[in-house]
Amino acid sequence: MQKQLSALIVEDNEQDATLLVRELRRGGYDLSFDRVDTADAMRAALDTGIWDIVLSDYSMPRFNAPAALALVRERNLDLPFIIISGTVGEETAVASLRAGAHDFIVKGSLARLLPAIGREMREAELRVEKKKIHEQLLISERMASVGLVAASVAHEINNPLAILVSNLELASEQIDRLLAGALGEDVPGLLTEHIRGLAAPLRDAHEAAERVRLIARDLKVFSRSQETDCQGPVDIHSMLEFAIRMASNEIRHRARLTRDYREVAAVNGNESRLGQVFLNLIINAAQAIPEGNASNNEIRIVTRMEAAGRVAIEFHDTGAGIPADVIPHIFDAFFTTKVAAVGTGLGLAICRRIITEHDGEISVTSRTGSGTVFRIVLCAANQLASAKPAASVKALAQRSGRVLVVDDEQMLCSAIERILGANHHVTTVTSARDALGKLAAGERFDLILCDLMMPEMSGMDLHDELRRSIPDQVKKLMFMSGGAFTDNARAFLARSSSEMIDKPFKSAALRQAVQRFLQ
Ligand SMILES: Nc1ncnc2c1ncn2[C@@H]1O[C@H](COP(=O)(O)OP(=O)(O)OP(=O)(O)O)[C@@H](O)[C@H]1O
Ligand SMILES: [Mg+2]
Repeated sequence: MQKQLSALIVEDNEQDATLLVRELRRGGYDLSFDRVDTADAMRAALDTGIWDIVLSDYSMPRFNAPAALALVRERNLDLPFIIISGTVGEETAVASLRAGAHDFIVKGSLARLLPAIGREMREAELRVEKKKIHEQLLISERMASVGLVAASVAHEINNPLAILVSNLELASEQIDRLLAGALGEDVPGLLTEHIRGLAAPLRDAHEAAERVRLIARDLKVFSRSQETDCQGPVDIHSMLEFAIRMASNEIRHRARLTRDYREVAAVNGNESRLGQVFLNLIINAAQAIPEGNASNNEIRIVTRMEAAGRVAIEFHDTGAGIPADVIPHIFDAFFTTKVAAVGTGLGLAICRRIITEHDGEISVTSRTGSGTVFRIVLCAANQLASAKPAASVKALAQRSGRVLVVDDEQMLCSAIERILGANHHVTTVTSARDALGKLAAGERFDLILCDLMMPEMSGMDLHDELRRSIPDQVKKLMFMSGGAFTDNARAFLARSSSEMIDKPFKSAALRQAVQRFLQ
């Protein structure tokens, strides 16, 4: 098969060029070429054509090889540049090679030309390949580090947050109850007033803590992005909402956000990675809009089903738009038009990689001055989003039990004791060893609510120890976790049949989980 080659020939002498072309075609190349002999013509050819190689004469009346080479390098083009000249001495040849030319061939002895072109083409290919691998590596590293940071931040926040949320919730409930009638007639009016005054600030604090809880939960979603096996039907709208929440700070001062959501099927994939894609696109849209005129700018997110079970998701913005000559580069790793503090140019490269992994497509249309649309198309999962069976709403019959709480955070133990204490007999310990001590001494519980990750002896160690020495209590274990799983923990959860509740939890969720467990 003929090899295709598109060569830019820099040569003033038409006969020499014809000779060269004949030589290349004889050598088996399916050649397309253009001939230039001035800087302007060369510039135009480089800017409009796609070339595999430059073959340049050394000196011409109006141009020369070093100037031609400089034009190539100015444009950061990785093009093999071979000088073919009849008149030049060794010193000039060496200087040219130093300046970045790939080879120097004497006119009249073109025998070396074909092997030289073959070699340079192969090497250029290798360079492209190497660059691609390097970029892929950097993208992977960035994705991994985002996941790691998110996981550890979420984990650090979760324990104090669990304490905060449950105590605030309890205090609010208590006050509501007092105000709703538990306060007898004999309570002086002034005290009632004071208690009423506490209700509003507590409600606000509780609401704010609830917002932090949602943020921490979102961070955990990010930390799961590394789990490639985390494939499931992804609900596109809830991941879009996740991305919108994460980007809200960037959006607020720049644009109104509008949603044009139609009913769409779930897609198969990794929800965390798709969330990352949506977040990148929303942040790009926001950053394309200058601050300060939010009411006249819009970021619009559109979802709809397309024929053949495909889900389309579009991100429209009224930002600056992307110039036509920039568009071909925006998906390249490290291509950015932003200052270093704002952009590294990895966002879209990551998006394209993730969408390709999902067998989807990502495309862009843009007009400078009027805005940009990024469009993603993904395949619908076979079944419509298999909505988890809604948690049974019918009230569970109240049943009370003996509950052992094991958590190294004393304050969290106390909070749980306050939440469950009204209905259950609650004992708390701050280490797995103390729990084991009680059990070994013969105490028995209907539920052992145990933190998964603790220093010294973890919940998993407790599980294994119980299985060995006190097997009747193993099935009483329910774990609590704030995320940030180790590989060990992940494997443990996969094989154990124990239940798990995520920290931080809402009091009602904890009460319900305990009721369900005791049924
Ligand atoms: N919605 C948009 N409107 C205008 N230009 C855009 C838009 N999205 C992307 N671009 C252009 O594409 C370039 C590359 O985007 P990309 O997301 O890959 O990197 P970045 O946003 O510059 O940096 P990073 O995402 O790594 O913080 C941007 O610098 C910008 O010039
Ligand atoms: Mg970006």
